[in-house]
Amino acid sequence: MILVTGATGTVGRAVVNLLLEADQKVAAVTRDPASAALPADAQVVGGDPASPETLKSALHGVEAILLSPRAVGDAATELLSLAADAGVQRVVVLSAVSVQYGGGYRRFAGEFKAAEDAASASGLHPTFLRCADFAANTLAWAPQIRATGVVRGAYGHAATSPLHQRDIAEVAVQALLDPLHAGHAYALTGPQSLTQHDKARLVGRAIGMELPFEEISPQQARQAMLAQGLPEDVPDRLLGYLAACLQQPGPSTDTVAELLHRPALTFARWATDHAAAFRN
Ligand SMILES: NC(=O)c1ccc[n+]([C@@H]2O[C@H](COP(=O)([O-])OP(=O)(O)OC[C@H]3O[C@@H](n4cnc5c(N)ncnc54)[C@H](OP(=O)(O)O)[C@@H]3O)[C@@H](O)[C@H]2O)c1
Repeated sequence: MILVTGATGTVGRAVVNLLLEADQKVAAVTRDPASAALPADAQVVGGDPASPETLKSALHGVEAILLSPRAVGDAATELLSLAADAGVQRVVVLSAVSVQYGGGYRRFAGEFKAAEDAASASGLHPTFLRCADFAANTLAWAPQIRATGVVRGAYGHAATSPLHQRDIAEVAVQALLDPLHAGHAYALTGPQSLTQHDKARLVGRAIGMELPFEEISPQQARQAMLAQGLPEDVPDRLLGYLAACLQQPGPSTDTVAELLHRPALTFARWATDHAAAFRN
């Protein structure tokens, strides 16, 4: 049995689906099973990883855990202590490239580092997936693209190498199932360094329209993100990282291709896969 925290997130859902396709038993954790829309074949666990006692009984018979720092908050040490007591062998942490390369507000890299440190100290065998920005972050543009046909954002010339969640999930599944990945820290990025202007162009191509990127101030971008209902910390996470990548492009690695024995999926592919989200 593999236990997936953050199972309703972008990566968590993809991991649950891939594990089920591989005939693995999956315990998928969510705080709200009624609205989680998880696959029928998964064992849905109602609980909050940030309150680890709520998962205690679900940990028995679990071989490996996918740890989503966002879902677990500052309770990683407590959760992994319960996991060690229950005999769990491995933990795969969805971490961030900022732990290794810097970039963005230090407090966010600090949260990911704390999750990694908790995993290292837990007695479980850890694997760290230090991810670049998710291509799926671009979904934050969807409401304005649908409403106006323009992307207004900050730091248009900041370049990152965004990751398709499918690639993160495939690597996570390898690490969850194969002890050979224990003790490794993988810096995962997409295959191409792209500015915000490039990303807008590629989303436009996927939906068959010219999609200009118009520069606004970081303060305006922050307000617009909050106005569309994104959680309070998200603008600082996204804008802080882009501000750093304006000075120094985010890292690009070949690690996804090396681990998956195929090229990493492009942002253009991601945009095509998610075109419906940007159309009216
Ligand atoms: N986005 C990026 O560019 C990026 C880059 C590097 C690393 N990461 C990390 O990768 C992990 C997976 O990201 P993701 O986008 O797939 O998932 P996500 O949407 O950030 O969160 C996964 C799940 O965690 C739960 N959750 C969200 N906010 C919470 C909160 N404040 N308290 C408790 N639970 C909360 C929700 O599950 P329920 O509501 O079902 O309980 C949510 O579906 C996250 O830990 C993220 O920090 C993201």
